[in-house]
Amino acid sequence: MYNVPADFINETKVWETLEQNKNPEPAQLKEVLAKAAEMKGLNLADVAVLTSISDPEMLGELFNTANTVKETIYGKRLVLFVPLYISNLCANECLYCAFRATNKEIDRHALSQEHIARETEVLINQGHKRVLLVAGESYPKKGFDYVLESIRSVYSVKNEHGEIRRVNINVAPLAVDEFKQLKAEGIGTYQIFQETYHRETYQKVHVGGKKRDYNWRVWALHRAMEAGIDDVGIGVLFGLFDYRFEIMAMMQHIFELEDKFGVGPHTISVPRMEPATNSDMASHPPFPVSDIDFRKIVAILRLAVPYTGIIMSTRETAKMRRDTFALGVSQISAGSKTNPGGYEEANEISGQFSLGDHRPLDEVIRDVASMGYIPSFCTACYRMGRTGQDFMDLAKPGDIRLHCAPNGLSSFKEYLQNYASSETREIGDQLIRETIAGMSGIAKQRAEKLVNRVEAGRDDVYC
Ligand code: 5AD
Repeated sequence: MYNVPADFINETKVWETLEQNKNPEPAQLKEVLAKAAEMKGLNLADVAVLTSISDPEMLGELFNTANTVKETIYGKRLVLFVPLYISNLCANECLYCAFRATNKEIDRHALSQEHIARETEVLINQGHKRVLLVAGESYPKKGFDYVLESIRSVYSVKNEHGEIRRVNINVAPLAVDEFKQLKAEGIGTYQIFQETYHRETYQKVHVGGKKRDYNWRVWALHRAMEAGIDDVGIGVLFGLFDYRFEIMAMMQHIFELEDKFGVGPHTISVPRMEPATNSDMASHPPFPVSDIDFRKIVAILRLAVPYTGIIMSTRETAKMRRDTFALGVSQISAGSKTNPGGYEEANEISGQFSLGDHRPLDEVIRDVASMGYIPSFCTACYRMGRTGQDFMDLAKPGDIRLHCAPNGLSSFKEYLQNYASSETREIGDQLIRETIAGMSGIAKQRAEKLVNRVEAGRDDVYC
């Protein structure tokens, strides 16, 4: 049923809307920014208007508006996660990816369940609570059951330091019944990136394997939602095609999900192409995105879908990551490795692409906290069943802050107490004190109560 052409990605409409809005009057630009400041999101034409901005002064206004929206909705919280690559086996031929099937320059490896448990333990000992499980599109003997078993393995590891409390998933698109099995394992978000929404480019860069089927991929989140997974993540691999087209088409995907399921994606990822072993394309992206355009993309998305999380990975440098916190990023990975088995010990297995930020978790936390951001390991929402529409209902009027701010603080306190270096603990404790001092009302009461409980030795407290 979901294998028919996806008419919700309407390329002609994207080009026409971009064309009609390519030279907006300054007054029109200001109008769109004023609308964005109301935090109710933007339509396709508004987004087209914002993509046309290049004048430094207007860019400044775009960035300021994005910053205000970000701070109003998310405060100073930044959610932390780490990817866990379980396998680099792959049957696809994506020209930009080191895992592509015909790449003979990398060793192939699918971690055993014992190995996955050991990797998980390393991450738990660092202080992580949220894992993004990633695999190439081909599984060892057991097929898709391998993924299900791997999720169980991650959740099964518990030690005196804690446990992983949320497993998000990035694996190849599944059929509805497989998505149901995935949901039954208690996953958080299922994410899948379309890579490019431009059909001709999609066909050019995905030259073999099931991934060649654009429609199978673009309908994947419909199937996930139909299976009851209501936290889904989308993304574009920036560098494959014109970024203006991509964000417009991604908006069409978002509107379609909102229309059909009453709720849009939980997160948007913005991977930008990085070098990858034995890939010419990865070193020479067909449509490279400059640093300034990359910031612009984050700011536009923040305004277009204010309540959708934006994820910034360690593909980017520490500096770029820092810059985008203020523009709308709400989740970051830290201490990441993209080679299976890479946490337990350095190995020779090639990663999926090269990284821009190699700092260990504690250093990232210290840096983020020094900037005044609260690193959050919170996993309360999905464990309380606040997902999909329920989450959005809570988020939209801003009520979520009564949960997120206290929970973020208590999860940060838990990190500081159980895992942090003394230097990080000092900076973090100070920040928690200052943050609570600046709060008021119910949020403040809850934050004090939760942080005190952690201080008294309780872990995993949330509201
Ligand atoms: N650079 C950056 N991201 C990449 N991905 C694949 N190859 C690269 C690369 N060279 C992204 C794809 C994939 C995700 C897991 O990683 O978008 O969906």
